[in-house]
Amino acid sequence: MYTKEVMKHFTHPKNVGEIENSDAKVTEGSLACGDMINLYLKVNPKTLVIEDIKFKSYGCAANIATTSVMTELAKGKTLDKAKRIEFKDVTKALGGLPPMKIHCSVLAIDALKAAIRNYEEKHGLAKPEELSVSILRSRLRHVMDPVHGKDIVTLKIVQNVKLENGVVKLLLEISKDNESYNHIIHEIDEKIAYIPGVKKVEKEFI
Ligand code: FES
Repeated sequence: MYTKEVMKHFTHPKNVGEIENSDAKVTEGSLACGDMINLYLKVNPKTLVIEDIKFKSYGCAANIATTSVMTELAKGKTLDKAKRIEFKDVTKALGGLPPMKIHCSVLAIDALKAAIRNYEEKHGLAKPEELSVSILRSRLRHVMDPVHGKDIVTLKIVQNVKLENGVVKLLLEISKDNESYNHIIHEIDEKIAYIPGVKKVEKEFI
């Protein structure tokens, strides 16, 4: 069911691994299938060129192949150019994908966009968005529990989100004994603490 190009990237994926001291790091998951990608960027702060990009995949063959191609398309491009890469560019480069696997290429592009946004927010380059509870919730949907392969909103770990004068107040249902606890708390800060307009993130646990 896969093209030769898909099989090539699945069996010999490019840019696999982790970047130590990366400038941006995201974990993106697919609600459709529970698969996940970790993506790391190294960006030249002067030229804003993506100098290195690496990934780890916890997904299907198409997930690996589409992420591999996406990293090849993004490497060497400026952040602005990389933002314009679409999932269709990925499927085209692979000579097509079965319809039920198109979402794998969407996940690869979502990860790229989230990593770029993560970099821009950390470096004060992001265009300010009107901060709202729904934006915060949508960002929290990108915090994945690696054990369950689902996001913390779907898993109802996030019980409530409030926003008061730039202070984000989260009510979280998670115990310190949960093996994903440290990862989840760290990822929450990575995803929302840098959003322009967020002054502080307060977490209450039940
Ligand atoms: Fe989940 Fe491909 S089926 S990313």
